[in-house]
This record gives sequence, structure tokens and C-alpha cells, in this order.
Amino acid sequence: MKISIMGSGYVGLTAAAGFCKLGHEVICMDVDKEKVKFIKSGNLPLYEHGIKETIENAIKQKRFSITTNLSEAVDNSEITFITVPTPEASDGKQETKFLNTASKDLGKELKKKNVYHLVVVKSTVVPETTEKLILSNIESESGKKIGNDFGLCVNPEFLREGEALKDFLKPDRIIIGEYDKKSGDALESVYKDIKTVIMKTDLKTAEMIKYASNTFLASKISLTNEIGNICKKLGINTYEVMKGVGLDHRISPYFLRSGIGFGGSCFRKDIRALIWKSESLSYDSKLIKEVIKLNENQPHKIIELLEKKAGSLKGKKVSLLGIAFKENTDDIRESPAISIAAELIKKGAKISIYDPKASDNFKKIFPNIHYFNDIEKCLFKSDACLILSEWEQFRQLSNVHFSKMKNKIIIEGRKILNPNMVDNFEGVCW
Ligand code: UGA
Repeated sequence: MKISIMGSGYVGLTAAAGFCKLGHEVICMDVDKEKVKFIKSGNLPLYEHGIKETIENAIKQKRFSITTNLSEAVDNSEITFITVPTPEASDGKQETKFLNTASKDLGKELKKKNVYHLVVVKSTVVPETTEKLILSNIESESGKKIGNDFGLCVNPEFLREGEALKDFLKPDRIIIGEYDKKSGDALESVYKDIKTVIMKTDLKTAEMIKYASNTFLASKISLTNEIGNICKKLGINTYEVMKGVGLDHRISPYFLRSGIGFGGSCFRKDIRALIWKSESLSYDSKLIKEVIKLNENQPHKIIELLEKKAGSLKGKKVSLLGIAFKENTDDIRESPAISIAAELIKKGAKISIYDPKASDNFKKIFPNIHYFNDIEKCLFKSDACLILSEWEQFRQLSNVHFSKMKNKIIIEGRKILNPNMVDNFEGVCW
């Protein structure tokens, strides 16, 4: 099928790569001229396993192109996915200015089109946004009526950074919020080669499934961290506890890894948007608010432990291994490493950093920290080492790597070291 995608950010480009893999023809559109030029010259503004190769291949086969011209994108496609960003405006409220402009621009293009066109909202939007904002903008700008002239669906994404293409091609489920059967059936045909459960709902239910899923996952982590904090005080290995807990099929073994808390661009933003939405409906979601509060405090736990072991941090050299919000990405958005670095600096520590991918992004916030491309050089003469992301290469670290430290204080914020290869380390909750 011929697909256009409005917004060439993380979601847009990973979806583009996924659709190319499924054999569709994709035309991406973005208002950012520099970004479009950058992508046209064979680069990608993100690091995500498999995406660059897939897009390069699709370009060769003439199944991927990118433009700043929306007319070109809409004219050359049967379906348009909206994947523009929906960041936090203030107090959790979702910023809808990009959605507002995108849906109005799309409406203007649909006015010129004489054949049925399907619009699919893939951006994460709070329940009711598609119907109240996007549908109303498209109808008023195009002068057309939903149903006969165009269709509308909500199709949330559940991709994990670092695993996005794999998750796209092998999803647990595909959620299709459909305005009507014609819209839903058209979208289903895009995914016909993916073998998974397809669940069809109305528009706002699909919007809510995305928020409920992210809130549930983040709650699982905060609850796991809370159990971990208690276990730490009791001298119990919380990973063994959660292994036992996860054997219950009603709980599942996933998302039970305690540590310095969740990061990433989505969990916090989405949960705060849900809290904002529920408050606008006069509902006080106490439990969900607590998930965020617990997570804000969790990075501080590693500093507490560090001070207990090292005393005052003034003038001490602290090495941070891994600063990305998780492994296999250069993304540092909401990474716990940010608040940890800020607190260490405030306490007078000197920081050195090693991360396989994320240093350039971290430099934009902390330009005066020492960054290293080599773990041993980073650790040289350190008073302490904090491990903050689960990069696979950290699993291979052994005593030798830590041998040139001044004091061998090693604390894991994420459980990754192999106790058969490294001795004398402690975990934040274990
Ligand atoms: C998350 C969801 O997992 C995706 O389903 C969703 O599509 C995406 O947000 C989104 O809304 O865009 P992502 O943020 O890429 O994906 O990463 P996760 O793998 O969910 O990890 C989020 C954070 O939680 C990381 O900092 C990770 O280290 C942490 N985490 C994860 C834990 O602390 N413990 C765990 O057990 C699992």
C-alpha cells in the first residue's frame, strides 16, 4: 500500500521502517527542512537498531522517500499516519499545537483529493483528542465528511526503544480504534502480514489503552522499586524475591527489575497527561501520582548509598558507566543519570562518564564533565563507580577493569555485573 507519515521523529521513522519491511511504499513528511535534508543524504537523527539499514534498502528499492511537501505526501498515498510529537506543555497538560497544525494542514490537502483517504493517529493522544481536535480540524478544513470522504483510526504504538523494529514486526497485539468499520478494515489490511491479535475498539478506547498500558508498566516498576527499597533494609535479595513473584502467571516475570527508576520520553509524560486529564474530570488519581513521586526519588537512593560508603563526596572522583535511559539507545530523555549527575555536581564530586552511545547527548546538558571512550580510562583513579544503564558490555566487566580505581566502591543502579567476575559491589536495592 502507499503510506504517508506526517512527522519524522522516533515514532514516524520506526513506523516507516516497519512499513517498508512489510513491503509498503512509504513517503515521510516533516516540516523541518534541515532534518529532511539530513535524512535524504542517508543519515538518521536517531540511533535505533535496524532502522538505518532498512531505510537504506527501501531507498534503493524506491519504496522510501521523504519530503517537506505535504501535498506530495498525501497525493502519493492512500493512508496518512500522524506521528507528530505530543510533549508536555505544563502541569502535565498535553501540548497539542503540533497535532492542531498537522490536522489542519492535512484537512487542507484532503480538500483537494477526490478519492477516499484514511487518516491514522499514531501519536500518543489523551482520550477524546482524536474526535474533538483532529476530526473536527480535518472536517472544517477539508469541507468533507468523515465516513464517505475519509476514514479515521487511532493506532497506538507499543514499541520499546532499542527494540522498536522487532516490536513493530512481532507485536503482542495491534490496537485499532476505528471511527467506522470501513476505516478499521482499511487499517487492518496494512498489517495483514503480521501474525498477532488485532483488537478493534472505538477511538477513545484505543487512546486510553495506550495510557493504561504505559501507566501499568510504570506502576509495576515503581512497586518493584518500593519492594526493593524495603528488601535492601532487610538484607534480602529483591531480585530473588521478584523471581518468585513473577512465577505467578497473573503477574508475569517482566518489568520486575528494581533499580534507579524508569526514564525515557514516554512513561512520565504519559502518566502526567493522564493525571491532568483525570483532574480535568474532577478525579484525583492518587495511586498514579505516587508512581511518579516514587520514581522521582529513586535515583537519589544510589547517592544515599554512595555517601554511606564513601562519606563526603566533595572533591571525589565518581565514574558513571551508562547514562542512556536504558541500553541500546543514545536517548537520555528523563534518564535517571541526569538527576544523579546533577546531585553529584551539587555535592562537589568530579564526574567522569562512559557510555557507548549517549555521551554526545549528555554533553548538551553537562558540557563540563569528562567523557571517555574507554571504560578503564574512565575508571582510572576513581573513588567510586556507579552503573546506571544495562549495556550488554557491562556484563563482561571483571575485576581487572576496576583494578585502577583509587577506592573500589562499585554500586549498581541497574543489575548487570556478573558476581563471578567482579567482587565487592552492591546494588541500589539488592
Ligand atoms: C515504553 C514502553 O515499554 C513501550 O511499550 C511504549 O511504546 C513506549 O514506552 C512509548 O510509549 O513510547 P521505552 O520507554 O522505550 O518503552 O522503554 P522500556 O523498555 O519500557 O523502559 C523504560 C524505563 O524503565 C527504562 O529506564 C528501563 O530501564 C526502566 N525499567 C524497565 C526498569 O527500571 N525496570 C524494569 O523492570 C523495566
